[in-house]
Amino acid sequence: MCRDGAAAHALIYGLAGYGLPGRGGRRARASRTSQESQGQERRSQSADFAISAHALKLSGMTIRNTTTRWGAVAQFLHWLIVVLLITQVVLASIADDLPLGMKKLAMLARHKSVGITILGLAVVRLLWRWMNPTPPLPDTLKPYERVLANVTHAALYLLLFAMPLSGWMMSSARGFPVSWFGFIQLPDLVPKSKPLYEAMLATHEALAWTLGAVVFLHVAAALKHHFMLKDNVLRRMLPFTKIR
Ligand code: HEM
Repeated sequence: MCRDGAAAHALIYGLAGYGLPGRGGRRARASRTSQESQGQERRSQSADFAISAHALKLSGMTIRNTTTRWGAVAQFLHWLIVVLLITQVVLASIADDLPLGMKKLAMLARHKSVGITILGLAVVRLLWRWMNPTPPLPDTLKPYERVLANVTHAALYLLLFAMPLSGWMMSSARGFPVSWFGFIQLPDLVPKSKPLYEAMLATHEALAWTLGAVVFLHVAAALKHHFMLKDNVLRRMLPFTKIR
C-alpha cells in the first residue's frame, strides 16, 4: 500500500473507530470502548492474579501438599483440630467442676458436639492426606527417630478417632442422646448399660491422658526440629513461612 493509501486507510479506520462524523462511527466507538474496558479489566484481573500468585509463591503456600511442605488445607485442618482439642479440654474441665444440673448438661452437650466435629474433621484430614503427596521426613533423622515420628503421627490419628467414639459410646451407654449442636440427632452406638458406661468412662479418661502424653512428645519434637536442628519440619506446617 502506498503512503497516501496507508494514510487514507488509517484515516478511514481512525474516523470510524473514534466516532468522528461518519457512518457507523458511534457504534464502532462504543464497541471499541467496551472492548478496551474489557481488555483493561482482563489485564487488571490477570495482574491481581499474578500478584496473589506471587504472594502465595513467596510464602510457599499452595492449596495441596507438595513434596516439600504441607498445603493450606492440611495446615488449616491441623491447626483447627488443635484449637478444637484445646476447646474440648476447657469445656470438659468446666463441666467437671459444675454440679449435676442443666448448666453441666449444656456444657457436656457442647463438648460432645465439638467432639463430633473433630471426628468429622479427622475423616476429612485422612482423606485429604490420602489424595495428596506427603512431605517426607528429613533425611537427617536417625532410623529410630523416623520410627518414633511415624508411630507418634499414627497414634495421634488413632486418638482423634478413639476419643470422640469412646465419648459417644459412653453417652449412649448412659442413655444420653448425642446431637451435633442440636441440628443433627445422632444414633445410639451401644445399648444403655451401666457396666458399659463405666468401662467407656474409664476408657475415655485413659485415652485423654494418652493423647496428652503423645501431644507433649509431638510438640517437643516439633520444637526440637525448629530450635535445635533448625530444619523445615515446623515451618512447613505453618502458614506464610518460607522453606529454607
Ligand atoms: C502446638 C501444638 C502442635 C504443634 C507445634 C504441631 C506441629 C506439627 C508439625 C510441625 C507437623 C508436621 C510434621 C512433619 O512435617 O513431618 C505435625 C504433624 C501432625 N500433627 Fe501436629 N502439632 C501440634 C499439635 C497437634 C495435635 C494436638 C494433634 C492431634 C491430636 C496433632 C496431630 C498431628 C498429626 C497426626 C500429624 C501428622 C500429619 C501426617 O503425617 O499426616 N498435632 N504437627
